[in-house]
Amino acid sequence: MLRRPRRNRKSPVIRALAEENTLSVNDLIFPLFLTAGEKKKVEIGSMPGIYRFSLDQMLEEIHTCMELGIKTFDVFPHIPDDLKDSYAKESYNPDGLYLNAIRTIKEQMPEACIMTDVAMDPYSSDGHDGLVKNGEILNDETLEILGKMALAQAQAGADILGPSDMMDGRVGYLRELLDKKGFTNVSIMSYTAKYASAFYVPFRDALDSAPKFGDKKTYQMNPANSREALIEAELDYQEGADFLMVKPALAYLDIIKLLNQNFDIPIAAYNVSGEYAMIKASAQRGWVDGERAMLECLMSMKRAGAKIILTYFAKEFALLSRK
Ligand code: PBG
Repeated sequence: MLRRPRRNRKSPVIRALAEENTLSVNDLIFPLFLTAGEKKKVEIGSMPGIYRFSLDQMLEEIHTCMELGIKTFDVFPHIPDDLKDSYAKESYNPDGLYLNAIRTIKEQMPEACIMTDVAMDPYSSDGHDGLVKNGEILNDETLEILGKMALAQAQAGADILGPSDMMDGRVGYLRELLDKKGFTNVSIMSYTAKYASAFYVPFRDALDSAPKFGDKKTYQMNPANSREALIEAELDYQEGADFLMVKPALAYLDIIKLLNQNFDIPIAAYNVSGEYAMIKASAQRGWVDGERAMLECLMSMKRAGAKIILTYFAKEFALLSRK
């Protein structure tokens, strides 16, 4: 036997030399849930170790995470029902919970990179990402609302906007609007291939944002499709997206690889709430080693071609890499 692959596995040093991919805290984005009030830090039942923070607590959390090396945060708002309406008007209220928080975070910690979410669902009384009329999710009318939301977020100081709504044409619409208003330096990380997935349930619990009727299958992608992801990616690329995201991650590693092979801008993977919950739930029962399962799953996303990973494990990973 002239070729013995096991030689490259014979010691930790050799294994490290032969290692093809690495995980770094620099590649991680930590999603955070914001809620109204003060001194609130409420754990989400289906996401052990993940909380809804009031602004004061979120500022502390961001500070702690920055010291651990996490630099980018994706903030999502929990909006009380009485502020929701069918037009998601609260989403561009400059004095509302979310925009006030983004402004405060950027004022107090300008070096924190803040990503915001552009979609109607947290503010919509219908719980959908777009405007609903007669049971239908309207595309072009939604763009106008997303535009107001995105501009307000850019004005509040957001570094990266994350359109997660899957309306057609939204990246181009937002890019043109931002540029026209002078926000040429605000980035867009597009939820490019976002699938109609069963893995978003804990997130919808966290935000109380589940759709009030039907599902999201007329705008989010069919899990059976991969070639269609290339169409979405081509459009987002042409429309000016700076990053292309695949979501969820674990069941869609082939899509991450496909986009990475076909586009030269960085690919992001969203390791979603249900993926986090699966590992946490089985680890709590002692059925898998949670730490190793986390590292293996995150590495699978890197190996598939994700440069960036949005993950609820970010802080845990950062703490672990400190040891
Ligand atoms: C909605 C949005 C969702 C997530 C991020 N933005 C849920 C949905 O599409 O219903 C899910 C993230 C997660 O599950 O971690 N705009």
